[in-house]
Amino acid sequence: MSKEATPFRPAPTSYSESLDRWTTPHAASDYPSKYGQSLRDRRELGCIRRFVESLAPNSRILDLPCGTGRLTPLLLSRGLQVVGADGSEWMVNAAREQQHAHGDGVSAHSANPVFEVREALNTGYPKGAFDAIVCNRLFHHFREPETRTAVLKEFGRICRGPILVSFFNSFALDAFRVRMKHWIRGKVATDRIPISLSTMRRDVGNAGMDVVAKLSVLWGLSPMCYLVLQNRVPVVGEGSQSQARPSALSKAS
Ligand SMILES: C[S@@+](CC[C@H](N)C(=O)[O-])C[C@H]1O[C@@H](n2cnc3c(N)ncnc32)[C@H](O)[C@@H]1O
Repeated sequence: MSKEATPFRPAPTSYSESLDRWTTPHAASDYPSKYGQSLRDRRELGCIRRFVESLAPNSRILDLPCGTGRLTPLLLSRGLQVVGADGSEWMVNAAREQQHAHGDGVSAHSANPVFEVREALNTGYPKGAFDAIVCNRLFHHFREPETRTAVLKEFGRICRGPILVSFFNSFALDAFRVRMKHWIRGKVATDRIPISLSTMRRDVGNAGMDVVAKLSVLWGLSPMCYLVLQNRVPVVGEGSQSQARPSALSKAS
């Protein structure tokens, strides 16, 4: 009797764990499809709005991971050409349905958004395909610095303009509270990993990028923090260069 070959699977990393976790119908149905009115939601959206307002209208922006498309109305309201991509087909389907049902943000100034299943480490987009990228709530799932750097490198390859990336900053009361909770229970955090700003800066530097601005959701309280990044060596791609104004973003809040 012939023995069946065992399919090769790489050792689990936070990258594959994160993809597995979100690639289920529950993940999509349980995840909010719109921002709420809580202070945290308003401040988070405010940071992303500041970034979006620094882009020239009609810029081609990649929203990865797009999740259920929570950011789509905001991006469209600025007249951007929106591509939403996510590693989970369930999330992408939810984003498409949401857009079909409400069509939020589509106007005479904006084209319909496109939603695609794509993975952050290997998006398959050509070099310099986008004027800007927004990456909201992905990096706090990644434990290994190599993963963060590899994803940032891929973003740098496909983007010729500024990149907004969120991460969980360990310098925050909420991050300290969660660390204490884990310590008391004798647990190690495997997800929603807070890291220091200097660690994130190092990963950014290793990916060949500079931090041009920092935006905090609730400084010292919430770990949610945004960095605006730019390639050290400009990427040449087709089409127009985004007219981002990093100076308008350079004040830390
Ligand atoms: C917390 S949700 C954030 C969604 C959206 N950015 C938002 O703010 O509403 C995390 C998303 O990351 C996606 N994701 C996880 N790992 C990924 C990967 N390797 N490549 C692309 N998307 C990934 C999940 O499918 C999920 O939709």
